[in-house]
Amino acid sequence: MAIKIAILGFGTVGTGLPFLLSENKEKLAALLGEEIVISKVLMRSEETIEAARKEGFSYDFVLSVDDILADSEISIVVELMGRLEPAKTYISQALAAGKSVVTANKDLLAVHGSELRELAKKHQVALYYEAAVAGGIPILRTLANSYSSDKISHLLGIVNGTSNFMMTKMSEEGWAYEKALQKAQELGYAESDPTNDVDGIDASYKLAILSEFAFGMTLAPTEIACSGLRSIRSTDVEIARQLGYVLKLTGEIREVQSGIFAEVSPTFLPKKHPLAAVNDVMNAVFIESVGIGSSMFYGPGAGQKPTATSVLADIVRVAKRIQNGTLGKNFNEYSRPTQLANPAD
Ligand code: NDP
Ligand code: HSE
Repeated sequence: MAIKIAILGFGTVGTGLPFLLSENKEKLAALLGEEIVISKVLMRSEETIEAARKEGFSYDFVLSVDDILADSEISIVVELMGRLEPAKTYISQALAAGKSVVTANKDLLAVHGSELRELAKKHQVALYYEAAVAGGIPILRTLANSYSSDKISHLLGIVNGTSNFMMTKMSEEGWAYEKALQKAQELGYAESDPTNDVDGIDASYKLAILSEFAFGMTLAPTEIACSGLRSIRSTDVEIARQLGYVLKLTGEIREVQSGIFAEVSPTFLPKKHPLAAVNDVMNAVFIESVGIGSSMFYGPGAGQKPTATSVLADIVRVAKRIQNGTLGKNFNEYSRPTQLANPAD
């Protein structure tokens, strides 16, 4: 027997999965007692299939999602295409067909998360998206589990790897904006259209998801004040340095009297702040809470292997729930804790 999965979108993250499955083959077999097998891969065109074959991939490549939806042996669909559509339609169809979904799509979860979670609940399947926030850092799982007994008052994070990489290179190595962006694209950190990375929109999507897990509050990305790094000049970085600060693109959520306030903006951090030392593609989430106090979670925020590792961990988690028959029960296991009253519920 095998656990059969399908991949939608075989780009930077998608092509990382075969490597990780092979690298962890024995460990996963010991953990699950059966193999995880990539059964079908959705591609955009015959040309992309040809290109993938030339790279040595020999999967059952398909051009229509219907071939995946109709395959009753596929129990987990892994969406790695990005953007809102057709990802939303395909994920909704997969959930309605009784298949669990793992995705790294923060755009989609930030904008349509409530609707998709409801659909997963209705069809008693799982919808996991750990890789959508802070790439390789298991921050959603940590917030859902370890902070269930705590009350968070403040979250400050560097949650976009591309912009942090660019700002680090621009400030420490004097790179021009264009060179830094091009390198981030070559390294597979940036989105296919990097506008959202540099304008802070990608970070605002991640904050919207974090607000659910950390504060139990649903925020639309449009409710998050947002400014990116396009207006940053080397003089800003230099002035910050002279005054003992480091300039970073941060996302912040804090409690206010009426609920929470969230903002993405370039921020002057004192050099001694733990986030000031977070450089290159690294991300970090600094949390202040009543019980634990101050804590910080740190790791790579983008890139093929860290992100695919996080995706595979979600696949394994779903596989275990399929095996132990808990898929339809306690569907909220990897969902947000409710800390504050949420008007959306
Ligand atoms: P890529 O652009 O590298 O890969 C996406 C792939 O999906 C491409 O091969 C693209 O094909 C394919 N695709 C897009 N639309 C369709 C479609 N309609 N049918 C079939 N194939 C399609 O993106 P990434 O791998 O970098 O990102 C994937 C997801 O992971 C995104 O949601 C992203 O935000 C998220 N993510 C990425 C991280 C990273 O470090 N890269 C980190 C964390 C999350 P084509 O090339 O033909 O357009
Ligand atoms: N483009 C994103 C980033 C990928 O640079 O952080 C990880 O979500």
